[in-house]
Amino acid sequence: MPQLSANAKAIPASGIRRIYELASELDDVIQLSIGEPERPVARHILDAGASAWNADITHYTPNSGMALLRLAIANKLERDNHYRVDDDQILVTAGGSQALHMAMSLTLTAGDEILIPDPGYATFAMVPKLLGAVPVPYHLKAEDEFQPSLENLEQSVTSRTKVLLINSPSNPLGVVYSAEKIAELLQFAAKHDLWVISDEVYEYFTFSRAFTSVASLDSDGRVFSVYSVSKTYGLTGGRVGYLVTPPGVASTFRAAQEATVSCVNAPAQLAVLAALEGPQDYLVEARAHYGKNLEAACAVLDQRGILYQRPQGAFYIWIDVSHVSNGDVASWAEHFLLTERVAVAPGIAFGPAGEGWIRICVAGKTEPLLQAVKRLPSPRDN
Ligand SMILES: Cc1ncc(COP(=O)(O)O)c(C=O)c1O
Repeated sequence: MPQLSANAKAIPASGIRRIYELASELDDVIQLSIGEPERPVARHILDAGASAWNADITHYTPNSGMALLRLAIANKLERDNHYRVDDDQILVTAGGSQALHMAMSLTLTAGDEILIPDPGYATFAMVPKLLGAVPVPYHLKAEDEFQPSLENLEQSVTSRTKVLLINSPSNPLGVVYSAEKIAELLQFAAKHDLWVISDEVYEYFTFSRAFTSVASLDSDGRVFSVYSVSKTYGLTGGRVGYLVTPPGVASTFRAAQEATVSCVNAPAQLAVLAALEGPQDYLVEARAHYGKNLEAACAVLDQRGILYQRPQGAFYIWIDVSHVSNGDVASWAEHFLLTERVAVAPGIAFGPAGEGWIRICVAGKTEPLLQAVKRLPSPRDN
């Protein structure tokens, strides 16, 4: 038999899926391992999608997305992200995932290197491998409060580096970068002539620090920005996101879109148009709920003397379990699931620097979340 492609085989199995699948086989599990908001999607968004199906709006749309939707996105970028783009800089994608894939496809040639955060969202390492490019982790350290340090970045950059990937608010760390930090990162990118891919899918969920869009500080057109409605409107299965590119990229991305999904499904695009243009109550309530959950969960962690990174954004808490995980947090998370019936994401799923840590998601209901946090091992138990 022929061999499968080396690029595809280079992608490791997801450490989070493993826990998720194991948890699905058990009863009474409190599920904190995946980033799935539990709140029902707003009625007007569902209605817009349903009406589109019923009206048979089921045909191809332009590769880059429906004109009305791209216009609504351009307005949203100006209002909330504080930068202006032409509609033709916007590509509607199948979730933030395809926006990431497209951004990397447009910037990386096989053999090129991309700097990715470690710990960081696992897809950041998977996509370059699929493209035959090389993900190079830059270490985010607890002593720096998991902010990227220029010293680390300078150590990781080589003549083959093409892209710097930034993710703020960050999954899994919940860290949000200040405008000063972003300006520093853009200067670093300019110095080494790198593209920047900025993953901003948690843009609306910040709590103790204001959110800054990287592209709003970009003076020389090097930033590709990745967005998604999955987290914003709890529409994870709708599979809609968008990529905002520097000027001059439209014809290339339209061709690349033709070669991948052609276009995103039409009813889903209309549901997202309704989401962007309709009432924003869902978002306001979701943000308040996540903020309340974060506060309550952190209070329990504080009471119990468990170390963690205090989240400034997103809806996760990054927790130190190194006192019990014995250098193998993946096995510990499985054991914890089997004995305590709580599914958490092992930190190692986010890169080597995640060993000894776990990520919990706080986007679900408050009571089970607090029960689960009370079951976590405290260093005081030893
Ligand atoms: C940082 C980050 N980027 C991108 C994505 C992908 O989003 P989507 O579900 O819209 O594909 C996620 C999903 O968890 C994420 O956490």
